[in-house]
Amino acid sequence: MLPKFSSKAFLAPMAGVSDPALRLQCKQMGAGLVVTEFTNIHSIIAKEKQLKENMKTIQEFIEYSEQERPISIQLFGSDLFALEQAVKIVGPYFDIIDYNMGCPAPHITKQMAGGALLQEVNLTQQIFRTLVDTTKKPITLKIRSGVTDASRFLFREIAEIAENEGIQMITFHPRTVSQGYSGNADWDLIKELKEISNIPIVGNGDISTPEDAKTMMDETGCDYVMIGRAAMGNPFIFEQVNDYLNTGSFNKYTFEDKLDSFFDYLHLTKKFKIKFSNIKSQAMRFTKGMKGGSQLRSKITFSKNIDDLEKIMNDASTNTIIK
Ligand SMILES: Cc1cc2nc3c(=O)[nH]c(=O)nc-3n(C[C@H](O)[C@H](O)[C@H](O)COP(=O)(O)O)c2cc1C
Repeated sequence: MLPKFSSKAFLAPMAGVSDPALRLQCKQMGAGLVVTEFTNIHSIIAKEKQLKENMKTIQEFIEYSEQERPISIQLFGSDLFALEQAVKIVGPYFDIIDYNMGCPAPHITKQMAGGALLQEVNLTQQIFRTLVDTTKKPITLKIRSGVTDASRFLFREIAEIAENEGIQMITFHPRTVSQGYSGNADWDLIKELKEISNIPIVGNGDISTPEDAKTMMDETGCDYVMIGRAAMGNPFIFEQVNDYLNTGSFNKYTFEDKLDSFFDYLHLTKKFKIKFSNIKSQAMRFTKGMKGGSQLRSKITFSKNIDDLEKIMNDASTNTIIK
């Protein structure tokens, strides 16, 4: 069974972005569910072997904190034997196992994973069966609409198979794989999926504001919304969406608030082994739209470690550029 979610707004899995520090911040700001960055099933198996030899668990590789719960781990990879092994390894630690069938990156689709699977009906069915048979934890799915424009309705058949095989929730980003991030997410397709499904549907794609979240829910009837890019360097969006859905208004945040929030983020990163290059990119995102932000970002580019970065951001917060 799916856990109970405290809010209708979820944080999207984003490689290099939805690290354990940002996830925790989003959770603290009211995200109903957070999802790890997508994780290769073969890496899980290889890492677990190494870690076991040193009496450690997979938690050293896929870091998270208890306060994030309910937490979902997203997997990719289509080798059925490896999938079973990987699910057995991560199953005990996570509340939901999410399967990626949306990633458009060529290095993923070339290995018959991510969005490429949308056109592989038989293999997809076997993947769902393997996932559901291997663990008692709920299995969810994240899909795009199809591979190319000509196949943009593949989601219909895949969703039906998913439901029949016991998948418990589907997140739908209604762009095709070949679209990447161009054009718009076609929210009409979310409405269609909701109408043909008996399991919860999470609408995703192009939510930039709390108003967008409400519009998507009203227009499509989706049960939940998932927010990706608008949450980058902006964990406030979850509180804003929750307030807007509940009361029709929400608090605005200033750049000072954003900067404070970045320091909170930085503080949280110290508990985890997040790559410094990723932390730097997060710093860029937290300063997006700030007055003097581009000058600040060029300084951030040259920072070499956390102390450097902290100093640059500290200078910025006392500097008139920002105020
Ligand atoms: C930098 C970045 C990394 C992403 N990584 C993943 C991922 O690991 N797994 C996944 O299912 N989707 C991934 N996505 C897609 C998002 O989860 C989401 O479906 C997409 O960004 C559309 O939502 P949005 O318009 O709210 O950003 C990624 C998107 C971005 C921008």
